[in-house]
Amino acid sequence: MSRTAALAIALLGGVAAAGGCSSGGGGGTGTGTGTGTTGARTGTAAGEGVTLPPAPPLPGVPQGLPPAALPPTVTAELVALGERLFFEPRLGKDGAAACARCHAPPYGTTSEIRTTTLGGKPNLRHTPALINLAWTRALGWDGRHGSLDEAVRAHWKGQLDVAPSIAAIEADPVYRAHFARAGRGPSVDLAVAALAAYVVTRHEGDAPFDRFERGDAAAAPPEAAKGYELFAGKAQCSTCHVPPLYTDDEFHALGLIAQAGEAGDEGRGRLDPARRGAFRTPTLRGAVHTAPYFHDGSAATLEDAIDWHLAGGRGRGAGPDAIDPALVAVTLTADERAQLIAFVRALSPPTPPRGPIAAPGASGGGAP
Ligand code: HEC
Ligand code: HEC
Repeated sequence: MSRTAALAIALLGGVAAAGGCSSGGGGGTGTGTGTGTTGARTGTAAGEGVTLPPAPPLPGVPQGLPPAALPPTVTAELVALGERLFFEPRLGKDGAAACARCHAPPYGTTSEIRTTTLGGKPNLRHTPALINLAWTRALGWDGRHGSLDEAVRAHWKGQLDVAPSIAAIEADPVYRAHFARAGRGPSVDLAVAALAAYVVTRHEGDAPFDRFERGDAAAAPPEAAKGYELFAGKAQCSTCHVPPLYTDDEFHALGLIAQAGEAGDEGRGRLDPARRGAFRTPTLRGAVHTAPYFHDGSAATLEDAIDWHLAGGRGRGAGPDAIDPALVAVTLTADERAQLIAFVRALSPPTPPRGPIAAPGASGGGAP
């Protein structure tokens, strides 16, 4: 079994009992529309007259990304149910908000620096983009959740301020048909598995730079190619933002909390005192559209975030103990800086896609 296969299966371990039919998982069409197969099951809520059309096929893995070895339990039917639940305000306290309140389309993030939970608690951290999590081992900026199921369950309770329950939707005939189509009767476990399946199939790839690398010289500006050389060479970005996912899925401190001893977000330090102030390296794919940046949303623009790195993370006077040794201060000429920025920009589509995280139906053939 490949490493990615093992990871995806570990992440989605909790889904094991959920599905029935297996899925192809997508064929990399380069358009992001995918060629995943589906058993084309329809769902009928017994005696209630709701018949769903076959679920839209699983999204394929766009070009430029490694294969996503999702377990066969992640079916098109489960993802369609998960998409519906993700936008369902009845899951939240007083029926007042859905996951998508903070994890807004298209990338599952928000321009708000810090959101407030439905319980009225300000969040400590910026809402991360929910993309390319099929390759992530540990969820959360500090990696405290070992599986997507666990993260979803924790979020349902912590962010939506109610214990996971489907009481508010259980009797809804459309949901009953969805649960039936996904293979089992309504349950919290299946709802959690469906949300996790929806999230794990949000892929972001086939960026202008991927097309450039495949030989389409016009896909990215010429500076971007020079920028890639800097990214992988002099500026040493690729040590942590490893292509093609542009993350090493590891934790690093960038001096975003000041001197040791000062109160601040400990990040990974909560789980491992030696990693104080370290946070998971985010992907740079789609980043043009996911401002603000960093776990604390402290960089308003992509340029600010890049300049922070180029200054070696010294912007808040952090000492070396609060900065990963792999982050080095680099002096670039104005031209080189522009080239580096052009490259990072070429990892995002010029305009945000309608998917991959879109309201039900908006991505073409969503559920009724
Ligand atoms: C009030 C805002 C808010 C709501 C509502 C919310 N989230 Fe989140 N979500 C966040 C924040 C903030 C984080 C980052 C938490 C951290 O790392 O400490 C996050 C992180 C996550 C992660 C981990 C992502 C990663 O990159 O590791 C997942 C998965 C997730 N949320 C799914 C959901 C789901 C599913 C729902 C609905 C049941 C939901 N969230 C509702 C704000 C929200
Ligand atoms: C030592 C590892 C490391 C190196 C080297 C590194 N980064 Fe980062 N990068 C990170 C981590 C970790 C974060 C998230 C930090 C946080 O939020 O606390 C990050 C965040 C970012 C972000 C913001 C992304 C977002 O969604 O918030 C951008 C942009 C970025 N890096 C670009 C670069 C560039 C360009 C370089 C080279 C000049 C570089 N990085 C070098 C680890 C690294």
